[in-house]
Amino acid sequence: MVPGFTISERTQRYLKLEEQYGAHNYHPLPVVLERGEGVFLWDVDGKRYYDFLSGYSAVNQGHCHPKIINALVEQAQKLTLTSRAFHSDLLGEYAQYITTYFGYDKVLPMNTGVEAVETAIKLCRRWGYMVKGIPENQAKIIICANNFHGRTLNVISFSTDPTARNSFGPFMPGYEIIPYNDLPALERALQDKNVCGFLVEPIQGEAGVVVPDEGYLGKVRQYCTDAHILLLADEIQTGLARTGAMLACDHEQVRPDVLILGKALSGGTLPIAAVLADDEVMLTIKPGEHGSTYGGNPLACKVAMVALQVLKDEKMAENSALMGDMLRHGLQDLMSPHISLVRGKGLLNAIVIKHANPDAAWELCLSLQENGLLAKPTHGDKIRFAPPLIINASQVQDCVKIIARSLEILD
Ligand SMILES: Cc1ncc(COP(=O)(O)O)c(C=O)c1O
Repeated sequence: MVPGFTISERTQRYLKLEEQYGAHNYHPLPVVLERGEGVFLWDVDGKRYYDFLSGYSAVNQGHCHPKIINALVEQAQKLTLTSRAFHSDLLGEYAQYITTYFGYDKVLPMNTGVEAVETAIKLCRRWGYMVKGIPENQAKIIICANNFHGRTLNVISFSTDPTARNSFGPFMPGYEIIPYNDLPALERALQDKNVCGFLVEPIQGEAGVVVPDEGYLGKVRQYCTDAHILLLADEIQTGLARTGAMLACDHEQVRPDVLILGKALSGGTLPIAAVLADDEVMLTIKPGEHGSTYGGNPLACKVAMVALQVLKDEKMAENSALMGDMLRHGLQDLMSPHISLVRGKGLLNAIVIKHANPDAAWELCLSLQENGLLAKPTHGDKIRFAPPLIINASQVQDCVKIIARSLEILD
């Protein structure tokens, strides 16, 4: 245990309730939160923390952004759900707004990120059969090792993480795994005429913020065009200003054929996801062939428009680029023997911990918690640092000091 780390009785009561009545499918830090505002969270004992996870990048706009919350509350008092059996006065307006915003012909609205990934895969296979002429049931999609695209059975069928897959089989066929950031491997895989798409994260978030070589995405775009296959970009975590541009693909002026968005599309208020594509792809799905009760509901439409608008109005991509540089430099300047690598783009960053103790990253997170900053390890030795995009320079400096102080427990 980290010296001085204590858990209050009040907190213990909440932890016990969850432990007893909730499924054990997560391993959270022992902190119980009850309020959030901007870059800060407060626990049930009134202690304040910097949030360095931002709900896995769902809270890019900051906790309880007043404009998003106002839109949510106002719309919630008017109309929340019609189902797609009827039209609502907001779906068309939202569809026009988001397609103009990102420059696509059409949007297919969903709820959680993984649903949007599933939708993108369905669209890709459909396009493969109807447009590319792949023989029925032969379509193949190329995916990268160490990917994270969600938790449904189909999506874990192409996971390479044993923790996500073990004893959940049998799995869905039709996928080929290649290494990430490996252009020759992609070139080889594309020789199969039954390939209809390449699904990729522009930066692998859950894998520990793995940034590919400069030029990788540009080349990927070119290879996909040349092979007449669809490029599917999962920007659920990297999109919406997180990496210092509206989309991570924008860093290389790459336009995916299918753009997958989620998380911050609602600023952390409710599950909203979307798939964007042009007519050639989107119109391969006909009425009744795909859908979701909540997808495109009026509450989501209203919230998503405001969540997207504040990203632009408050120049969050620009701030993310500036503050991200400052954070990475601040961390590098610490010259800590316990940090073997600082990497990332914009405000999607991670450090890799070097220590003889295999629990060092977890213990560092407890120490950070003790000192007022919340972050979570991923894959044992990596810690993601991804605060809300509204963080300012003095707050970044304050956080670097907290991290420096917290690292002392590893000495
Ligand atoms: C890149 C990526 N794709 C898909 C998902 C799945 O999103 P959700 O948890 O909303 O289903 C995530 C979630 O972390 C993600 O990071």
